This record gives sequence, C-alpha cells and structure tokens, in this order.
Amino acid sequence: MQTSIKTLFDLSGKTAIVTGGAMGIGSGIAKRLAEAGANVLIVDIVEKEEALETMNEIYEIGGKVEYLQADIAKTSNVDAIIEKAIMVFGDIHILVNNAGIFKYLPVTNLTEELWDRTMNINLKAPAFLSKAVVNFMIAKKHGGRIINISSIDSLKPSGNLATYDASKGGVRMLTRSFAKEVGKYGITVNDIAPGGVNTPGAAKIMGDQASQEQMDAMKAGMEQFVKSLPLQRMGEPEDIANATLFLASNASAYITGTTLVVDGGLLLI
Ligand SMILES: NC(=O)c1ccc[n+]([C@@H]2O[C@H](COP(=O)([O-])OP(=O)(O)OC[C@H]3O[C@@H](n4cnc5c(N)ncnc54)[C@H](O)[C@@H]3O)[C@@H](O)[C@H]2O)c1
Repeated sequence: MQTSIKTLFDLSGKTAIVTGGAMGIGSGIAKRLAEAGANVLIVDIVEKEEALETMNEIYEIGGKVEYLQADIAKTSNVDAIIEKAIMVFGDIHILVNNAGIFKYLPVTNLTEELWDRTMNINLKAPAFLSKAVVNFMIAKKHGGRIINISSIDSLKPSGNLATYDASKGGVRMLTRSFAKEVGKYGITVNDIAPGGVNTPGAAKIMGDQASQEQMDAMKAGMEQFVKSLPLQRMGEPEDIANATLFLASNASAYITGTTLVVDGGLLLI
C-alpha cells in the first residue's frame, strides 16, 4: 500500500531545529515546516524580538515554535541547543543547518578573520550540531533528517566569495560523509543549493562599508543577472522552504547524500 498523498508531507508530532530561522531563508523554512505540523525550535544569534515576526506568523496558523538565542559558531552551545529542543518538545527528528554568512571579498584581500568566522558558522557548526543530533537520533532509534543549506556557489563560484565558496563546498562533502555513515540508522542527510534568493543577508552582501557607487554597480549587475536566469526572477525563501519540506518529509524517504539544486536555472548560464 502506497503512502497517501495526505500523509506524505505531514510532519505532525515531529520536532525540527532550524538554525538562522529568525529571518531570510531560515524564516521561510521554519514557517513551512510548522505549517506541515512540525514543532520548530529556531536557533539564531539575534535577539528574540527580531524573530517575533516569523514566530507570530507561525502562531497565527496554530503552529508550535520556540526560540533560542545562540551563536552557533561556538561548539560550546551545541548541548544547550539539543537540551532546549528536548526540554520543550521532547524529541528531535529534523535538523536544518541553515544559518550562514556571506561577504564579498576579492581573493587578493582574503582575511584570516573572515575565513575563521565563515568556516566556524558555515561549516564547523553544521558538523558539530549534526554530530550531536545524529547521536541523539541513533540512541532514540527513530531515524531522522538532516538538511544542510549549501549554495550554488559550492558548484559554481560567482566571484569575490572564495571564503564562502570553500565553506559551502565543505558543506556539500560533509553532507555526503554523514549520509554514508548514518543511513543504516534511518537518517537521511541531504543539502539544498540555492541560487540567488531575496533575503536580508543577500541585500547586505557588499558589507556595511560599500560606497554608493559600489551599491549602484551591484544593483545594475543584479538586474542583468536576473534577466539572464532561465526563470528570470530571484528565488524567494519559500522556494527553498518547499524543497526543505520535501527533504524533511516521507516523499524523500529514499534520497540521501545528494544536493537538491534550487537556482532558477543559474547552473545553465
Ligand atoms: N540568499 C541567498 O542568495 C543564498 C544563496 C545560496 C545560499 N544561501 C544560504 O542560505 C542560508 C541562509 O541565508 P540567508 O540569505 O537567509 O541569510 P540572512 O543573512 O538573510 O539570514 C541568516 C540568518 O542566520 C542567522 N545567523 C547568522 N550567523 C549566525 C550565528 N553565528 N549563529 C546563529 N545564527 C546566525 C542570522 O541572524 C539570520 O537570521 C545561508 O547558509 C546562506 O549561505 C543563501
């Protein structure tokens, strides 16, 4: 008997941790998973006030959401994240490693500071949070889902993002390594590679010190970029959230160790 369409995307009774869920793509993911019935723990570095818009939207549809303010770059916060999810919701079935930073910097200007911060947030945090979550899932013997938000830049560098690209290439291989080892416990591990998505982070990609001239050039470049895309629009957080729902649901039960590209056709240009 096939699983019915009604239950295929039903996450009722499941608990999901979403890092970076206060805004941008993570906010879209938190809302979509909650709408599918999951209890959602948002973990983000910003004050709770900045996550209230997302949380209120979830409350409005009768969803369950909790918030933990934490810097995921610090591995010392991993235990607190796991404990919070268990304390509030009693279990963990889905981990979405979404929080990430990206800042333009030509390779000629690489800095150790940005390298370390980027690697700690984008690559080390998913590794150690995934380690803790898979150990929990193995002990509970109920399997689970890990979904890492990588980037199209892990497949095709867009320029001026070498540190970021290296971190996301790492995320893609981390996904495969985890998938290979934990499949036997019923845990699937996949990553989603978004193309350009409209988010607060993407709007600030040049950093705070960009001149008006640089901002204007960036805007013109973006318009050109969007026109060149086969689907001729930027991605929205919802596009990535829908792919996340698929990978978190029973619809993707036999998929592990792969990258789901959600890029409006960017890889084709
Ligand atoms: N926006 C895009 O075009 C795009 C494209 C490809 C991949 N991505 C990836 O998608 C993910 C989300 O990107 P976004 O565009 O929504 O970014 P964003 O900057 O709009 O949101 C990122 C969220 O992560 C949180 N965060 C940042 N550092 C953190 C830390 N140390 N600890 C906890 N939370 C932290 C921020 O507070 C924010 O809520 C990132 O991993 C990014 O690399 C984005």
